Amino acid sequence: MNIFVVVTTLCVFSETTVGQSWTYHEENNGVDTWSTNYATCATQQQSPIDIVHDDAVVDTTLGEFKHALFDAPPQSMLVKNNGHTLQVDLTNGYIINDLSLLPGKFKAEQFHFHWAAPESRGSEHLLNGGRDWGELHIVHYNTKYEDFSTAMNMTDGLAVLGFFIKDDYPQDNADIERIIEPVFNDQASYYSESAIYITSFSIETFLPHNLTTYYRYQGSLTTPPCYESVVWTVFSEPIRISRRQADMFETMVFENSRGASDTTNLNDNYRPVQALNRRNVYRTAHCSGTASFLKPATHFIFLCTLIIGLMRVY
Ligand SMILES: *[C@@H]1O[C@H](CO)[C@@H](O)[C@H](O)[C@H]1NC(C)=O
Ligand SMILES: *[C@@H]1O[C@H](CO)[C@@H](O)[C@H](O)[C@H]1NC(C)=O
Repeated sequence: MNIFVVVTTLCVFSETTVGQSWTYHEENNGVDTWSTNYATCATQQQSPIDIVHDDAVVDTTLGEFKHALFDAPPQSMLVKNNGHTLQVDLTNGYIINDLSLLPGKFKAEQFHFHWAAPESRGSEHLLNGGRDWGELHIVHYNTKYEDFSTAMNMTDGLAVLGFFIKDDYPQDNADIERIIEPVFNDQASYYSESAIYITSFSIETFLPHNLTTYYRYQGSLTTPPCYESVVWTVFSEPIRISRRQADMFETMVFENSRGASDTTNLNDNYRPVQALNRRNVYRTAHCSGTASFLKPATHFIFLCTLIIGLMRVY
């Protein structure tokens, strides 16, 4: 195994398992109660949403995310269970500085997962009403602000890249395995127990091949405090993992600390879809007819139609 693993002890912050100020469970500060403690969770530009392809407005100014943008490995990658998700904190993450992609200069801060309970589906966004097994969020902050915590409460503070995850890959996804295997090996799957530095690698390795089609809208954090500070990019091409890997997420991550009297699996950690209200969802133009118009075959058919049309006129 070429992974160098260091286990560090995490400080236990004020939240303990028993009194989590918010969870995904109805009986324990669940999603319906978030707005009691976090007023922004009840406002008008919340995430996630159901993305309806046919309702999305084509925006020809949206550029194409190239894989090379994600090449530079961060200085370090720290994997941890924060009681709500499995998260990887990045030090000196890559920077995207291209106004056709994101409205500012954005730096990668962390990425994390949302996933299903066994036999269920747990992506946060829906696409045409359908939910996938899970979703990966890469969180970036606008470098015009000093740091992530300053940016997270600013309307132009954050950019999140969202990828659906399907659990139908016939073999293990080796790049996702690099993240989850050491977590389970070292049993850091309990809340607040430990965090693990894994050997840093390029985020490009686990992105889907095809980044050309994506959706864009203005929304919020999908967890309290639900700040409306996020420009969302949701890609249509999913990341694929194996059933074995999905099973590890579903059954081997816990909300509680080790040895707690109640053991609760951390899964189904998605927020229900929120109303779109007065917002538009935009999409890239790459899947419209204009590109294929330039293909020779289509060109030929177009010419024939034109000629037949002209023959009719004269
Ligand atoms: C920033 O926080 C305040 C207080 O919680 C809230 O009223 C405001 O809506 C937040 N800003 C954004 C962009 O969410
Ligand atoms: C990428 O995916 C879109 C939508 O699924 C498709 O229209 C396009 O042809 C794909 N591009 C490549 C290079 O595969």
